[in-house]
Amino acid sequence: MLLPLEQARGLPSAAYVSEAVFAFERRWLFCRSWTCVGRECELEAPGAFLLARVAGEELLVVRGVDLELRAVFNVCRHRGLRLVDAERGVRSELSCPYHGWTYELSGALRSAPHMPATFRRDACNLGAVRIACLHGFVFVCLGNETPPLDSELAHAPDWLTRTELRHLRLGRSKSYSVSANWKLCVENFQESHHFTHVHTELERQTPSARATSWRGPGKWLGGRMELAAGLCTVSARREASARPFVVPESNRGEVRDALAFPLLLTSLQPDYLLSYLLHPESPTRTLVTANTYFHAAAFTPEPVAEDVYEFWDRVNAEDRAICERQQLGVQSRGFRAATYSLVEDGVHAFDQLVVRCYLEHS
Ligand code: FES
Ligand SMILES: [Fe+2]
Repeated sequence: MLLPLEQARGLPSAAYVSEAVFAFERRWLFCRSWTCVGRECELEAPGAFLLARVAGEELLVVRGVDLELRAVFNVCRHRGLRLVDAERGVRSELSCPYHGWTYELSGALRSAPHMPATFRRDACNLGAVRIACLHGFVFVCLGNETPPLDSELAHAPDWLTRTELRHLRLGRSKSYSVSANWKLCVENFQESHHFTHVHTELERQTPSARATSWRGPGKWLGGRMELAAGLCTVSARREASARPFVVPESNRGEVRDALAFPLLLTSLQPDYLLSYLLHPESPTRTLVTANTYFHAAAFTPEPVAEDVYEFWDRVNAEDRAICERQQLGVQSRGFRAATYSLVEDGVHAFDQLVVRCYLEHS
């Protein structure tokens, strides 16, 4: 795996099917990494919250009345009820529907009925989890020893750090389950030479022959694609949209992709930003949350974006089907990965980060 591209082979079957490998990844990778749960714009108002899934845990990410962003376990401290059911929303407090324990947005326990005089409320606050923001993205981390977010994910690509992207707002969040190992989903994102076979329309709009990949220092990988001549958006209608651009004029003929290892995939189009948050649920199942963000000026009150949603729903369904079919093959004892093709440098770079994690902790 650590050999140069021409000599290395892909990951073995066990990496995609083994419970032991998955438990290892959960312990050493997912629990220790900063995991993206959304963007700051989704949590602007006091009381705004969203449910996040990290390493098998469910967390509430909440903006407090003091405007601080916090992450807490979604678990009532009384007898353990899953506290909040909704995926996102706005609340003035967090109250448990079982026996009525009530928490402040900060996670502090406010009231608990019928407790003995010796009961200490401050010992039963919701369990806090590390949280930090970077370039508009919100990340949480279950590990206490993991270095701070800005050093773990330093060296983000320039195009992702531009301040204009702070003004984006969420158009749609859509989750779907893929019956495939999370690494197959990332590997699929890391190359575009399947476009000609799997995504005819995407290939027409962003030809894979002109795609290049990019390997940053640290945990960022990515790529660049050019839009076909005459296009300035990627969508089902293939024509100029009324949506405001989110990139400078010089970048309107291209798409930029980035992977923040291990679980955040993001793609900047001329007039919107896509992000895919992966949540590995088992060795063979991955929950994907696909978020689409537009310029704030596109919201009147909602952006005109059916053409974007329709297009990516189709592409994502194509990728989902192909990853699920690949899962069926890689779990066979007949599978042995070949050497990489010359246009799979992005896949190789990702697999190497996985292998380095395996080596570091075994
Ligand atoms: S479990 Fe939450 S109040 Fe009892
Ligand atoms: Fe694809």
